[in-house]
Amino acid sequence: MTKKPLFHFTPKSNWMNDPNGLSYFKGEFHLFYQHNPKNCYWGNMTWGHAKSKDLFNWEHLPPALSPDSETFGDIDGCFSGSAVVNNNELLLFYTGIKMKTKKLNEFGNTVTVGPDDLIPSQILAKSIDGVNFEKIQKISLELPKTYCKSHIRDPKVWKKGDFWYLIIGAKESSQGRVLIYKSKDILNWQLFSELKEKDMGHMWECPDLFEIDKNDILLISPEGIGTDGQINLSGYYLGNFDYKNGNFIHNPFEKLDFGFEFYAPQSFLDSKNRRIIIGWLVNHAPLPGENWTGLMCIPREIKVINRKIYTYPIEELKNYRNKELQCFSQLKDTLNTFDFEITFKNLDNFKITLFKGTHGGLNLTYSAVKKKLILDRANVINGFSQLSTFGTIRECEIEGNERCSFRIIVDKCVTEIYINSGEKVMSCVVNPHSTQNEVEVVGNILSKKIYSLSK
Ligand code: FRU
Repeated sequence: MTKKPLFHFTPKSNWMNDPNGLSYFKGEFHLFYQHNPKNCYWGNMTWGHAKSKDLFNWEHLPPALSPDSETFGDIDGCFSGSAVVNNNELLLFYTGIKMKTKKLNEFGNTVTVGPDDLIPSQILAKSIDGVNFEKIQKISLELPKTYCKSHIRDPKVWKKGDFWYLIIGAKESSQGRVLIYKSKDILNWQLFSELKEKDMGHMWECPDLFEIDKNDILLISPEGIGTDGQINLSGYYLGNFDYKNGNFIHNPFEKLDFGFEFYAPQSFLDSKNRRIIIGWLVNHAPLPGENWTGLMCIPREIKVINRKIYTYPIEELKNYRNKELQCFSQLKDTLNTFDFEITFKNLDNFKITLFKGTHGGLNLTYSAVKKKLILDRANVINGFSQLSTFGTIRECEIEGNERCSFRIIVDKCVTEIYINSGEKVMSCVVNPHSTQNEVEVVGNILSKKIYSLSK
């Protein structure tokens, strides 16, 4: 039986990484994504495309952008980017890639020989119907002399007042950076600001800058700051970006997800003015027996509470809940597709086991000494070594052990654990045996609500 999730977006088949061009256009949500239409491994970067009315039921559409143009400079890849709606048109901004020197890798995909063999071009494409896209022109962006020419990518565009802004990931002397450009007409761009931090990785991928309740949030995905096999992590700086002089004063870097694989998130505003993010849950190979690789997290609404980001599944997920169940043992019949909320008086003797079978499951425990929740997936990897590379344990600090609540969504081969209404979240991909489908909860439970999920 397939382990393809029902509520986490996956490609119809083959490889997927970053979400791109998230947007709401003519009454529908659009999700584009880094796609390899040829096989289940990274390469031939194409913009896959799907649309939806609620971000859970998706209609797959033909690829929006394919790597096919010498003129535009995207013959070796259409890398990540964003979308905006302007004058009734859906505009896409993306990074086209040509490779200076290339070779075929073990999966038959074209890759560069050296790490600096990428020649990026920033490109604008547009659509009137939201299905067919036309590449329009290259966007010229002045690059400061000290910056690395091959690592500038992933433009994200937004409008503020009378001006358009474009933020893009960059690298200067082996340090991650972002550059921000400004434009009056969305075609001609002037360098406006440069944001940098010391020792925060060697390249900042997929940047995003947006405002919530007078806080400016810079999302970045720095390469090279992680540990334990997961060297790339995503997070944010929250502060105030001065749109007059381009200065950004902010708090320290915070991670966005404390699980194993969340990366390259992108945000957008929907018609209800909600700020929603979707991130890629990295896996570098298909689960055994599957013909697809890579999944997106549940779309999460972002809020700011006490100068910290909270993320929580958008409310539409509740529309897929069935009648409330009375006890956890009933979840066995859902074959690992459910959603439950549970509050504990404290975390003494606390343990939640998901995907439980005779040889164990995915364990969430609490260490009073470390003041941390500990998620251990060693028993649900079942030989799928791609999951072991990212390690089997993640820890998440939480404040105090009194009254702690969880919302847990399990969806075939993935779980998302939201702690204290989205103060923290841990995402985790697993490879359960078909017999690992029970849930066990131990601790001082105050209340619970349990639902199976179905479409
Ligand atoms: C992030 C990333 C982006 C790039 C894309 C290529 O995962 O490396 O920086 O545009 O993936 O697929």
